[in-house]
Amino acid sequence: MTPHERLVTRDGVMLPLGAKSFDTLIALMSRPNEVVSKWDLMGLVWPGMAVEESNLRFHIAALRKALGDGKDGARYITTLSGRGYCFVAPISQAGGQAEPRTASRVELPPVKLPNRLQRMVGRSDAIATVSDKLITSRFVTIVGPGGVGKTAAAVNLAYLASQSGLRTLLWDLDPQGAASWYLQAKEGEGGEKSLWKAGADLESAIQSTAYDKLNLVPADLHARHVDVWLRKDEGNGVLLEKLKTVSRRYDLAILDCPPSLSHLADNVFIAAELVLVPTVPTHLSLRALKTVIDYFAGLGYPRNTLKPFWSLADRRRLLHRMLIEQPPKLIKDVCKTVIPYASAIERMGEHRAPVEVFESYGYAAEAYRELWKEVNALLKKF
Ligand SMILES: Nc1ncnc2c1ncn2[C@@H]1O[C@H](COP(=O)(O)OP(=O)(O)OP(=O)(O)O)[C@@H](O)[C@H]1O
Ligand SMILES: [Mg+2]
Repeated sequence: MTPHERLVTRDGVMLPLGAKSFDTLIALMSRPNEVVSKWDLMGLVWPGMAVEESNLRFHIAALRKALGDGKDGARYITTLSGRGYCFVAPISQAGGQAEPRTASRVELPPVKLPNRLQRMVGRSDAIATVSDKLITSRFVTIVGPGGVGKTAAAVNLAYLASQSGLRTLLWDLDPQGAASWYLQAKEGEGGEKSLWKAGADLESAIQSTAYDKLNLVPADLHARHVDVWLRKDEGNGVLLEKLKTVSRRYDLAILDCPPSLSHLADNVFIAAELVLVPTVPTHLSLRALKTVIDYFAGLGYPRNTLKPFWSLADRRRLLHRMLIEQPPKLIKDVCKTVIPYASAIERMGEHRAPVEVFESYGYAAEAYRELWKEVNALLKKF
């Protein structure tokens, strides 16, 4: 299986699998030797949609036929009556258990470089406060309340972007440093000096990572005080100004933000061409989204540059299903991709790596690949 190309081959011959049959296979292979209930499977294959069980049976049958399940004693998918389905064939990932270094070899389909930014971003009065050097890289920022999957998205999207050929910089703006930790940032580098002090340069804080074309600005403990500092400075363009000093070296910069923003928000919003907001399908999370949207609109930014996506979606929960199926007006423009609740994403902490590196065949990896495609397409539009 070559998950990112959505291809299954035997002896070099492509097996005829429809999209949903492929999704079913991915969902089952994500939990090898585990019984996956029909309910869970339907949630993974048709996130947020009510479907008849017969649809699932149809795709299981199609899969078995295509795989040759049962022929010459080969077993792939077993049915456990009344409980669900289980993928029972042995799985190994090409290249063995992924070491971070091997990750650069993961081949993802070539993604056309986004068009170079031809215009300045942000409000004109704010722009007047920053220099007029041409920006060459695209900036995406991820904001939202605590624990909604911002860092998980930032790390996975940055990884996928870099592997598609874009020179990518991930800036960990959260002093908690989760993104830096996932990417195995080298400790002790960067020194005592805060990135936020006048004259401090971003370039010297940048580290390489285990992955080709992916660089990191690790979390800066001094960032705890960034708000005080930014307030004193009263400039909203400080962050953009810093980014611009390195922008020629990167095609894409992704900013992973802490949950509370205040003064940092103004800086981040000016810098970003696209603001992603992971949103859990709950009313509380929608309320938080509304706060971000209102603040964003209050600053005069176009609404279409703020894009929510469903995160931590659990189809077993009625509320999640209802909100995803019939999104309220506030979130009508939500990304098509739903990031499901997935144990593989939790296991990023165990592997300290993006999901693609250690479980590229799983549905979590698939979801991030889809999200990256959407984000990349949006960036090309702006
Ligand atoms: N789709 C998911 N499925 C399962 N677990 C997830 C998912 N997304 C994130 N998590 C887990 O939830 C926790 C919070 O995720 P993450 O750190 O990405 O959120 P965050 O929005 O960056 O949080 P913070 O506001 O603290 O920075 C982590 O333990 C992570 O492993
Ligand atoms: Mg985070």
